[in-house]
Amino acid sequence: LISIKELADVVLFDVAEGLAKGKALDIAQSTSVEGFDINLMGTSNYEDTKNSDVIIITAGIPRRPGMSRDDLLETNLKIIKQVSEGIKKTSPNAFVICITNPLDVIVMALQKYSGLPTNKVIGMAGILDTSRFKYFLSQELKVPVKNIDSLVLGGHGDTMVPIPNYTKVNGKLLNQLIKKEKLDEIIDRTRKGGGEINRLLEKGSAFYAPAASGIEMAESYIKNLKKTLPCAAFLNGEYGVKNIYAGVPVVIGSNGIEKVVELKLDKLEKNYFDNSIKAVRDLFEVAIKIDQELK
Ligand code: 2OP
Repeated sequence: LISIKELADVVLFDVAEGLAKGKALDIAQSTSVEGFDINLMGTSNYEDTKNSDVIIITAGIPRRPGMSRDDLLETNLKIIKQVSEGIKKTSPNAFVICITNPLDVIVMALQKYSGLPTNKVIGMAGILDTSRFKYFLSQELKVPVKNIDSLVLGGHGDTMVPIPNYTKVNGKLLNQLIKKEKLDEIIDRTRKGGGEINRLLEKGSAFYAPAASGIEMAESYIKNLKKTLPCAAFLNGEYGVKNIYAGVPVVIGSNGIEKVVELKLDKLEKNYFDNSIKAVRDLFEVAIKIDQELK
C-alpha cells in the first residue's frame, strides 16, 4: 500500500532475512505493472532502516483460533523489547506505528522500551475497529460505507467501545435507523471482528484492513494532513485517564500526535470506556511482571 500510494521508499525488516528480501523483491517487480516509482529493499539488519521517517511494527505472533489478543502478551513483549532497542539506536526521530497485539499494552511497552516521546509512538486499532463497525452497519442498512461516520474508542480488545451516539448514516443518527437488538449484535460482532477472521483463516490474522488502517495514519503524518483518527494514544489526563495508552480520536500531523480530541461521552459510554481502560491497566500489570522476569 505504501508503494502503490508512493508514500515513501520501503525497507522491509524481518529476523527471517529471506522473507523480507523475497517480499521486497516481489513487490518491486510489480512496480512496472502498477506504475509506481519507489525503492524497496528487504533486510534483517537495523542499520538498513536507519533514520526512517515512519516505522510500522507488525512483529510478533498472531492469534490462533480460540486465543484472545491477551494470550500473545508474553511472546510479543519479548519481541517488542528487541524491536524497541533497534529503533532507539537507529531511528530515534521516527513516527512509530504499532500493530502488534495485545495492542494497547504492547504500544505502551514500546514507548517505554524505546524512550521515544509519546507523541511519536502510536497504536493502530480504532481505525480498524471503526471500519469493521461501519462495514457491518453498511451491510445491515444497505448503505455505502462512505455514507457512514462512526467511532470506536477504548482498548483494542473485547471491551472496545463502539459509540452509536457519534454514528451517523447519511447524516442521520444511527439510533433512529436500527433496532436495539440488531445494533447490539453488530457491536458484539465488531468487538470480536479480529477473532472471526482468525477462525476463518485458521492460521494468521487479518492483514488487509489492519494494513489500510496503519497506512492512513502514516499518510496523515507524512503529508501533514492533520486528520482526526481513532488510534491508541498516550493519555495524560484526557478523558479523566492518566499514564496509559488507549483508543481515542487524535489529530495526526507532522508532529506526530498533535492533539487528543476529547468528545463528550454519556454516562453509559463513559462506564464502558472506563471498563476498557481497566482491562488495559490490568494487562499492563501482567506485562510489568513478565518484564521483571525478563531481566
Ligand atoms: C485484528 O483485530 C490483528 O488485532 C488485529 O484483526
